Amino acid sequence: MSEGILLPPIPRGTLLPEGDRLARFDEALPQIHAVLRGEFDPVALQATLACLLWDVFVQANWCGFYRRVAEATLAVGPYQGGMGCLRIEFARGVCGAAARTKTTQLVPDVHVYPGHIACDDRTRSELVVPVLHGSEVRAVLDLDSPHENGFSRAEATRLETLVAAVFGDPSIVWS
Ligand code: SME
Repeated sequence: MSEGILLPPIPRGTLLPEGDRLARFDEALPQIHAVLRGEFDPVALQATLACLLWDVFVQANWCGFYRRVAEATLAVGPYQGGMGCLRIEFARGVCGAAARTKTTQLVPDVHVYPGHIACDDRTRSELVVPVLHGSEVRAVLDLDSPHENGFSRAEATRLETLVAAVFGDPSIVWS
């Protein structure tokens, strides 16, 4: 499995039609589960998932995790893409909103999102899924795209299911 997952090569930055994106995600899902099966280290899981989802979401310019490192503070974790902000308070931005409310944030146009943090001013849309352990927020999974409306509700729902399956296992020890 060292070659990662097998998907048709698509140039980075392409926004495929939603149906094609969902088909690509569905083709990747069993491969992702196979790669991660039996691994319970949260950093190994986050790093590998960031890498694999980067291949799936070719419309993304950033894909990775922010980890909760204090009561209301996130710090950047494993990711792919350009440099991200290092720390985000729960009170700020799309990632902060996902962590604070423990709900997925789907933002079709960050230019009209009050408080959006512009780590990369080319980013136009964003999808952030909280990573929960019981009722505790441990991290958020953040995907950014330079396309307006770069992510759909169906992609968000599939990501929520994947994140719950990967990080919901009681064997995972969060420090
Ligand atoms: N735009 C995000 C910050 C994270 S980065 O863009 C990688 C936000 O508003 O939460």
